[in-house]
Amino acid sequence: MRRIGVLTSGGDSPGMNAAIRSAVRCGVEAGMEMYAIERGYEGLIDGEINRIGYRDVGDILHRGGTIIKSARSLRFMTEEGIDKAMNVLETFGIEGLIVIGGDGSLTGGLELSKRGITVMGLPGTIDNDLGYTDYTIGFDTAVSTVLDAITKLRDTSSAHERTTVIEVMGRNCGDIALISGLAGGAQAALVPEVKEDINEICKRIVMSANSGKQHSIVIRAEGYEMSSEEVVQAIAKKTGRETKLVILSYLQRGGSPTMGDRVLATTTAAKAIDLLVDGSQSKAIGIVDNKIVAYDLADALKQKREFDMDKYRLIELLGK
Ligand code: F6P
Repeated sequence: MRRIGVLTSGGDSPGMNAAIRSAVRCGVEAGMEMYAIERGYEGLIDGEINRIGYRDVGDILHRGGTIIKSARSLRFMTEEGIDKAMNVLETFGIEGLIVIGGDGSLTGGLELSKRGITVMGLPGTIDNDLGYTDYTIGFDTAVSTVLDAITKLRDTSSAHERTTVIEVMGRNCGDIALISGLAGGAQAALVPEVKEDINEICKRIVMSANSGKQHSIVIRAEGYEMSSEEVVQAIAKKTGRETKLVILSYLQRGGSPTMGDRVLATTTAAKAIDLLVDGSQSKAIGIVDNKIVAYDLADALKQKREFDMDKYRLIELLGK
């Protein structure tokens, strides 16, 4: 296999550039022709494909975003779109693809692999919502961004003796809320995986205040059953304490990747090239117990993510 395409798809995540750099450079070193596909599956359908070389990926390791752009492609969700993409790949003589993205992006890759393209999926999303890997590329950086926000909000919440509800991303996964809540010393994390009675949270806030706690930080994952506004209203009404809402939104998707994300991106991309050199079938690559792993793409996407209840309970125990 000589011609390999690289694309980034779905919501961007810090570390995507590090993955592109590693894939392109390892591919060139292995004697492959590397091609950058712009704007994910959109650019694939439209044939926005350019040869990319070793020097083209210089000075990007530390940058957030993705130099080859990303998109969510509705057209690729149709048979017609997938057929067009297959024609483009055939025209360019591309037999292997490295897809960097989340669940939907890797599922798109699976469709191409069913039609004969070898697809190596790298977990590029801040959400940490893929079942087959302990961590996704971008999660660590996103949590660091949330922690930075918590540190700053803690100052002003404490000065005004308020409760601050911080809304974080994650789609249907509560991991960003869970880990930032644990590492940031939140009073509670509200996540889609756990049915938590808001009255209980309010009781805890009042008890903490009565025992001398000056302020409270509550992290709400965007997928939690009650909206942020409902949570704020409920807390304000039931605790009688001033309660503010901060939505971190797209801030979490930007910024220079952390060491963890750079290393994860670099090593998973290198593994993708190794597998292509070895003539492997399509795989999803990730990290389990600190080791780089590669699973059959279809099997990997069926794996359900387990929520870490021990860490969830620890937040409650330590945030009283
Ligand atoms: O999947 C990453 C993510 O940032 C989610 O956390 C969030 O729900 C979604 O993307 C937002 O997507 P968009 O960029 O399409 O608004």
